[in-house]
Amino acid sequence: MTIENHNPRNREDAILAVAAIARGINHTPHPGDENAKLKDRIKALLIEQNAVLVAHYYVDETLQDIADETGGCVADSLEMARFGYEHSASTIVVAGVRFMGETAKILSPEKRVLMLDNEANCSLDLGCPADEFTAFCDQHPDRTVVVYANTSAAVKARADWVVTSSIALKLINHLHERGEKILWAPDRFLGSYVQKQSGADMILWNGSCIVHEEFKAETLKTVMRQHPDAMVLVHPESPPEVIELADVVGSTSQIINAARTGNADTYIVATEDGIFHKMAQAAPGKKFIAAPTAGEGATCVSCAHCPWMKMNDLDRLIEVLKNGNDEIIIDEEIRRRAEKSIHRMIEFGKQHAPAPKSVNES
Ligand code: 13P
Ligand code: SF4
Repeated sequence: MTIENHNPRNREDAILAVAAIARGINHTPHPGDENAKLKDRIKALLIEQNAVLVAHYYVDETLQDIADETGGCVADSLEMARFGYEHSASTIVVAGVRFMGETAKILSPEKRVLMLDNEANCSLDLGCPADEFTAFCDQHPDRTVVVYANTSAAVKARADWVVTSSIALKLINHLHERGEKILWAPDRFLGSYVQKQSGADMILWNGSCIVHEEFKAETLKTVMRQHPDAMVLVHPESPPEVIELADVVGSTSQIINAARTGNADTYIVATEDGIFHKMAQAAPGKKFIAAPTAGEGATCVSCAHCPWMKMNDLDRLIEVLKNGNDEIIIDEEIRRRAEKSIHRMIEFGKQHAPAPKSVNES
């Protein structure tokens, strides 16, 4: 396995973007009564606009609850894509990050797809510019190009396959069995995890998630010693030495399901902290501990917070439903090419990873 350093802009771009977001974000906290009124207003607007709210587990818990209460969904990125595609609403409102909105639009060009904030991006997407990625692919014409869903529409358009974390290992195993050599982008940690598990011949783009790359194995070992009976659940965007300590490695839905069905009372969880809302609902009575992002001796313990996911809030939701701002628009030629690689993933998923009924079901 080789990791090619083709994106020197990745980390710098991501840091600059986070700083810009930090300057721009000014969430207004709403007291309980006012929150209830806002929720009612949103529910009415969703009906009025024939819209459905599709939310990721990492967004604000009130948004997750509204999605659940209004017939929308709260899910991992694969399920979000499937749900929006199959739903009959004419508008899909995506509470998540930009690649999730783009995926919805690629699959449903006839629908209006709205983001709560078009600037809500992802370090993996930012770290894989389409022009540099295309040049990288052109250097390796003998390889099957597999890209993670956390990429732009233009990058997906250059790929043979799109995958999410819930399906990545299954697909790479499948391609490896067929004797295919793989070019993988952009997350080097997820890529090296699936490479080790499958033994496939892979070259990797050098991208990472600025949230998951911060989990620390040494401090995680300390927490594990303090809770010897706890199960360790890890998202595969985490560093390899953290993944090695995991009892379960999986997508956000797979992590929640592991907590729901696991025998342990306590779970140490290495992923973004928005997930704890759904985990507590899915596995009531169990205890969850955030895996440490800080090194030994630091004053903070864990800060697994995606700045882009946290750009989604109630005020923005009302605004987009009223004004139709932040609509996703994609060049039709790019969309048509990206659609092929996403459809391949969905078809593969139907055969090899059928949709779970619900993380809340026992
Ligand atoms: P999932 O597909 O597991 O929900 O992951 C999306 C993501 O952005 C994780 O950081
Ligand atoms: Fe991207 Fe990481 Fe945020 Fe997920 S948590 S959206 S991978 S930056």
